[in-house]
Amino acid sequence: MNEATANKPPRHVAIIMDGNGRWAKQRGLPRIEGHRAGADSVRAVVRACRESGVQYLTLFAFSTENWVRPQDEVNGLMTLLLTFLRSRERELHENEVRLRTIGDLSALPGAVRRELDRVIESTRPHGRGQLILALNYGGRAELVRAARGIAREARAGVLDPEAITEASISGHLDLPDVPDPDLLIRTSGEQRLSNFLLWQLSYAEFLFTPVLWPDFREKEFHEAIAEFERRKRRFGDVK
Ligand code: FPP
Repeated sequence: MNEATANKPPRHVAIIMDGNGRWAKQRGLPRIEGHRAGADSVRAVVRACRESGVQYLTLFAFSTENWVRPQDEVNGLMTLLLTFLRSRERELHENEVRLRTIGDLSALPGAVRRELDRVIESTRPHGRGQLILALNYGGRAELVRAARGIAREARAGVLDPEAITEASISGHLDLPDVPDPDLLIRTSGEQRLSNFLLWQLSYAEFLFTPVLWPDFREKEFHEAIAEFERRKRRFGDVK
């Protein structure tokens, strides 16, 4: 492949950050230490996005299924999120990154919700990049929310069911203005979608790496981007 056929850097990268628990276990540490090291990878990857021109980064931080984990792990993850928001807000401002979320935030602890609301609001004017945290997120639940929104409009008589298109569905997702991801990365060797961005990943390139999330830093991110640029995307065409 020559330069002319290589992909441009992805505009939007989505990541399933997997392997924190195994990383901790390998070191004889409690699982939460894996999540803590994983939070440092979040910071590194946000920085790497800026260097590689990636404008949107969506991270699967807490799924609708994660509530069944031991209570102390759930609490630990919520505390880590709070710490991240408090300690990294300045960096988000310096890098002109806007924080946003997808998922149903109503089930999160009040302190986390308040801190999220505050940082989302304070970073709203930034236009250089967007860090999107998927929290209490599930792709099917998001599609249910979209279906309800569409049905409400149909019932109110403002939308003709026959006029519903793919764009209507995209337009009722949690963040309708965000372009679909170009690249999905999942770390730790697992090769599943786990209910992440089911609608939005239709045309994304998938990249699975054996590297555990706490070991996934700038270098690994740049390698993933380079791999994406070498792939040829056809979107159903022959080319
Ligand atoms: C999967 O690893 C990871 C998670 C369920 C949570 C991801 C959370 C973080 C990286 C930390 C905080 C997030 C932010 C945004 C600051 P796992 O526990 O399933 O790993 P395992 O499969 O090895 O057990």
